[in-house]
Amino acid sequence: MKLSKLISSGAIIAGIGLLASCGSEGVKKDEKPVDIQELSKDKPETHGTEVKEGEIAFTNPLNAEWVTAGKGMYELKCQSCHRLTEEKLVGPGWKGVTKKRTPTWITNMITNVEMMLETDAEAQKLLELCLVRMPNQNITQEESRKLIEFMRSNDGEK
Ligand code: HEC
Repeated sequence: MKLSKLISSGAIIAGIGLLASCGSEGVKKDEKPVDIQELSKDKPETHGTEVKEGEIAFTNPLNAEWVTAGKGMYELKCQSCHRLTEEKLVGPGWKGVTKKRTPTWITNMITNVEMMLETDAEAQKLLELCLVRMPNQNITQEESRKLIEFMRSNDGEK
């Protein structure tokens, strides 16, 4: 009698243990669900850290070396999807982009595209229009500054 009671209460305890672990398998205690923004923060080598409004400014005259470097990167990594006119290819054409967007917005779009597509209304509008997610191109902030200088030159800035 005593023994069977022991066994059954043991079974109940084991059952509760099973129930409690169900659904949380593989998730350690205190671990938050994966957050795309947190992910990008943890991997500065593949994603730029988010730039805040006002942290990057455009200055004139243009830096000619950056324009050249930016053009090289464009031809290698962006040209397959972006024209330099207003015409859409896979992504929007670049003509006028530096006039309608802030330096911060463009930088985040280039270095942190996943975050932008998750959180930024303007980026999401472009996604609805293009129906393709721009891939992360592993561009650093420094490289993106050069790409933007090339975009500014494409927009007629001197
Ligand atoms: C595989 C195609 C693809 C490649 C390669 C690509 N993009 Fe894009 N890009 C897109 C798409 C598509 C969008 C629109 C947003 C979306 O749908 O994800 C976009 C949007 C943008 C925008 C915003 C344009 C606007 O009108 O506001 C910028 C800036 C941009 N890309 C920069 C770059 C740079 C810089 C590179 C190269 C380093 C690059 N892209 C490479 C597909 C691409």
